[in-house]
Amino acid sequence: MTYRDIYDAWKADPEAFWLKAAEDIDWDRAPAKGWFDQGPVGEWFSDAMVNTCWNAVDRHVKAGRGDQPALIHDSPVTGSVQKITFSELRDRVARLAGALQAKGVVKGDRVIIYMPMVPEAIIAMLACARIGAIHSVVFGGFAARELAVRIDDATPRAIISASCGIEPGRIVSYKPLLDTAIDMATHKPEFCVILQREQEIAEMVPGRDFEWDSFQQDAVPADCLPVEGNHPVYILYTSGTTGKPKGVIRHSAGHLVALNWSMKNIYDIEAGDVYWAASDVGWVVGHSYICYAPLFAGATTIIFEGKPVGTPDAGTFWRVISEHKVKSFFTAPTAIRAVKREDPEGKLIGNYDLSALKAVFLAGERADPDTITWLEDKLNLPVLDHWWQTETGWSIAANPFGIEHLPVKKGSPSVAMPGYDVHILDDSGNETPTGTLGAIAIKLPLPPGALPNLWNAEARLHKAYFERFPGYYETGDAGYVDADGYLYIMARTDDVINVAGHRLSTGAMEEVLASHPAVAEAAVIGASDPLKGEVPLGFLCLKRGIEAPDEQITREVVAMVRDKIGPVAAFKTACVVERLPKTRSGKILRAIMAKVANGETVTAPATIDDPAILDEIAEALKKVGHIGQGDS
Ligand code: COA
Ligand code: AMP
Repeated sequence: MTYRDIYDAWKADPEAFWLKAAEDIDWDRAPAKGWFDQGPVGEWFSDAMVNTCWNAVDRHVKAGRGDQPALIHDSPVTGSVQKITFSELRDRVARLAGALQAKGVVKGDRVIIYMPMVPEAIIAMLACARIGAIHSVVFGGFAARELAVRIDDATPRAIISASCGIEPGRIVSYKPLLDTAIDMATHKPEFCVILQREQEIAEMVPGRDFEWDSFQQDAVPADCLPVEGNHPVYILYTSGTTGKPKGVIRHSAGHLVALNWSMKNIYDIEAGDVYWAASDVGWVVGHSYICYAPLFAGATTIIFEGKPVGTPDAGTFWRVISEHKVKSFFTAPTAIRAVKREDPEGKLIGNYDLSALKAVFLAGERADPDTITWLEDKLNLPVLDHWWQTETGWSIAANPFGIEHLPVKKGSPSVAMPGYDVHILDDSGNETPTGTLGAIAIKLPLPPGALPNLWNAEARLHKAYFERFPGYYETGDAGYVDADGYLYIMARTDDVINVAGHRLSTGAMEEVLASHPAVAEAAVIGASDPLKGEVPLGFLCLKRGIEAPDEQITREVVAMVRDKIGPVAAFKTACVVERLPKTRSGKILRAIMAKVANGETVTAPATIDDPAILDEIAEALKKVGHIGQGDS
C-alpha cells in the first residue's frame, strides 16, 4: 500500500480507518464505534474502556517482552546509563501508583509532575495513567511563577518533583522553585513526592513532602484501572497569545490509537526496536515520543539527560545512537545547528558505528534546508521534517517512512497524514490557489489524539481555534501547499514564537516587561537567530520623567523575564524606544518590527501611524548591538 492508498482509504471512511487502527490496542471494552458527536468539538472512542499504562507496559510483559529494556536513561551530565526492563517498569509504576492511591489519589485527580530528565518522570506519568489520575507535566526550565499558574489552573491533589536538575555547569534547584510556586499559588496540593538526587538534597516540608523511596516502600502495587475512552490521560499547558497558558487535554483512547499508528507508519518502529526522541518530557514531543508512543509499540525509549553539545561534545548524539543501537532518531533542527556549529565537518560522526540508524526526524520549528542538507550529507540517511503541535499530539504532516519514503522537498514537512484534511485559507475563509500563502486550517473533525477541549477554558478553545474559520481548526501557522500536496510552514499567525524548538508567548513576556515600574508600554518580537531559529527581543517605552539609565532598566527587565518565565525564554536583549510602530487604530506592528530586526527591506504599510518610527527602531537595535541576522 502506498501513502496515497492509505490516505485515500482514510478519506473514504475515516471511522472505519481508525476502528481498524484501534484493533492494535488492548481494550477492556472495545469501541463499538469511532466518532462521537459530543463535547465541544466531538470525541473518539468514547464508549470504550481502556488503560493507557496497560498498553504502554503490562501488555508487553504479558507478551513475553518482560526482559527487554523499556527505558534507557543515558545521562552524560551525571555520567550514568541505566536500563529498566518492561518487568521492572511495571513493578515500579505499580508500586508508585499504589502509594498514590493509598494517599487518596483517585481517578480524575490531577497530579503535577515537575521533574528533570530522569526515569522517575516517566514512571510518575505512567503511575498516574495506571490509576486514572490526570498528570500535568511542567517543563523544568520554567520559573516558579509559571508553575504557580499551572497549579492554580490544574488544582492538583499532589505534586511529584525532584531535588534538582542538571544543566551544563550548574545544578538547577527544583525544590526551592516548587516551594515558591506553592506559596504563590492559591490552590495548595495535599502532598508532594520528592526524588532526592545525589547532586543536591532538598529540604522537606514536614507533613507535606515525602521522599520518593520511603513514600512507596510499603505500598501495595496498584492494578491498571480501566477508564472511559474520553477520560483525560493528561493536561499539557502550552503558550498562547496571552500570559495564561492553555491546558491542552488529551483523551485516553484517541491518544492510544493515533500514537500507536504513528510509530509504525511514520517512524517505522515496531516492538523490540530502539527509538530516541531527544526532547524533554515537559514538551509534547516528550509526552508523545519519549514516553507514550514508543512504549505503546513495545519499543525501547531513551531518556537523554544532556545537551547536543557540551555534554561533553558535539559527538554525544552519535555516541548514544551507536551505544544503544537507535533505529529512529527525532530531534529539533536547532540541536543539529548546534552540533554543526561545533563540528562543521561532522568529524565526530566517524567515531561511531551508526549502522542501526535508519532515519532522522526533525520537528518543533521550521527545518531550514541548509541543516537538512548538512545532516543528509554527513549521515547518508533520510532526514525527514515533520510538522505538528501540542494541540494535535502527533504529526499533521510528515514523510510516512514506515509506509513509503516519499521524495523529500527541503523546506517542506511533506504531506498530510491520514486524519488531517489540510486547507489553506485566506482572511475571508476562502481556499487560496495552490502555492499561495494563507492560514493553515484543518477541516473538522480532528483525528484521534488531537485536542477535544482546553482544561477549564472551553470559551477560549472556541476563540483560539474554531471561531475564525467555522468548520475548521485554525492551526495558528501560515503556509502554502504545492501542486504535489506538499505543505510549507512559513510563520505563526499569532504572537507565539519558537526559541530553540521551545514554544513561547511574546504576550507573556510583554506582561512581565510592562510590570516594571518604569515601563509605560512594551512589545516583544521574535527575531531570526542562526542557532535558535528565533530569539525574543524586547522594546520598552518608558514613563515620563524616569531618571534611571536605559541600561539599568533593560538589565532589570531581562532579569525579570528570567525570574518570572524562566531561563528557557532566552530573553537577553531589550532596548528603549520613544514610541512603538502602530496602525492608526493602535495595533502594534510586531511583524514589521521583526523584519527591521532581521535586517530585511521593509516597506512601511499604508496603515502605519508614522513611518519614521521604523528608523528609530533600527537605530535603537543598533545601540544595543543587535545585528539583523536575516532569515536563518
Ligand atoms: N531546567 C532548567 N533550565 C533549563 C532547562 C531545564 N530543563 N532547559 C533549559 N534550561 C535553561 C538553560 O540552562 C539555559 O540557561 P542559561 O540562560 O543560564 O544558559 C536556558 O534555559 C536556555 O536553554 P536552551 O534552550 O537549552 O539553550 P542553550 O543555549 O543552553 O542550548 C541548544 C542551545 C540548541 C543546544 C538547546 O536549545 C537545545 O538542545 N535545543 C533543542 C531543543 C529541543 O529538543 N526542543 C524540543 C522540541 S523537539
Ligand atoms: P509545539 O506546540 O511546542 O509543538 O509547537 C508547535 C509549533 O511549532 C507549530 O505550530 C509551528 O509553529 C512550529 N513547528 C513545529 N514543527 C514544525 C515544522 N516541522 N516546521 C515548521 N514549524 C514547526
